Amino acid sequence: MGIFKNGKNEVYKSDLYSDAIRCMIRALEYRDPYTKGHSLRVGEMAALCAREMNMDQSSVIKIHIAGQLHDIGKIGVPDQVLLKEGRLTDDEWLEIRKHPVIGAKILSESEQLSDIAEMIRQHHERWDGTGYPSSLKAEQIDLGGRILALCDTLDAMASTRPYREPLSWDFIRKEISDSMGTQFDPGLSKYASTLADFWKNRFDQEYNGLQDNTIFIDYLQGQHKRIYSLIDEIRAIVNQKNSDMIVVKIRQLASILEIHLRNEDRSLYPDLIKHGNKQVRTLVHRFYSEMGNLSNEYTEFKLKYNKGSKIEADHKLFDEEFNTIITRLLFRLEKEDQELYPLAETIGYQTK
Ligand SMILES: [Fe+2]
Ligand SMILES: [Fe+2]
Ligand SMILES: [Fe+2]
Repeated sequence: MGIFKNGKNEVYKSDLYSDAIRCMIRALEYRDPYTKGHSLRVGEMAALCAREMNMDQSSVIKIHIAGQLHDIGKIGVPDQVLLKEGRLTDDEWLEIRKHPVIGAKILSESEQLSDIAEMIRQHHERWDGTGYPSSLKAEQIDLGGRILALCDTLDAMASTRPYREPLSWDFIRKEISDSMGTQFDPGLSKYASTLADFWKNRFDQEYNGLQDNTIFIDYLQGQHKRIYSLIDEIRAIVNQKNSDMIVVKIRQLASILEIHLRNEDRSLYPDLIKHGNKQVRTLVHRFYSEMGNLSNEYTEFKLKYNKGSKIEADHKLFDEEFNTIITRLLFRLEKEDQELYPLAETIGYQTK
């Protein structure tokens, strides 16, 4: 992160710092794939706004981090609420609304992050005092909190959500300018269009990235082929009852799977969620969570049989468990080949 590069020690410390923050964002993305990219974009926009306002370097850095972590409290919101498709009930809204406070609590573990914790607590406050959690009004709200509120709303309106398509740019610009003095600090009006332009560029960049989609899908299918042939290899060894070799191959399969899933996680799923219609998003969401579960089960299997002797202790049980997990894995990969990848290609073609 270029923003941190001052002195040499500083670089080291701050790289570690920003790495740790990226890990926290990643944790949230595991819970909620829809927030993919949202945290990073809000962070970038908030930092841009702070720079435009000529804030000092350390405030810019703090706002940047606060933007990236503003929704971290969603980690504490139950799945059935966080991942719900369709309208939320009043009680479910109450659950969601706890996230600024949970986020601030998480960050308040560190004295050094207390300013950032405060901005996070305030990112859903409104200028007119009707926000949450504390109904703060106008300048009672930290400037960082006010900036986050604007950037967060802008990104949310422009992105695809589980319950609706992205809103049009004309609508967004009008909505933001109409909300100055009610939802947002009117002092931020002059930065709103810079932020909207920035967002639009950022979105176009990500969107154009889709043109490589067909190549990317070929690449993922190539990985599938490697996985299929490795599974064939393992099956042959299992029949020969060569336990130590089985352990090595099980591990090899785990690492290929991990790389493959990471590729899908970082590119395929976010693209499909961003550009697909509601039907696509529902399907993608199902694939995403199913694969998460399956990959956890495979990891457990790998850990259980991490030594040849453990296989030899009960070969029959191993054979059974091996067959179960492999059958499920193959079923799943074939379904991706038949449903998910062709879908991704269709969307790639449509956007050209
Ligand atoms: Fe939020
Ligand atoms: Fe947010
Ligand atoms: Fe796959």
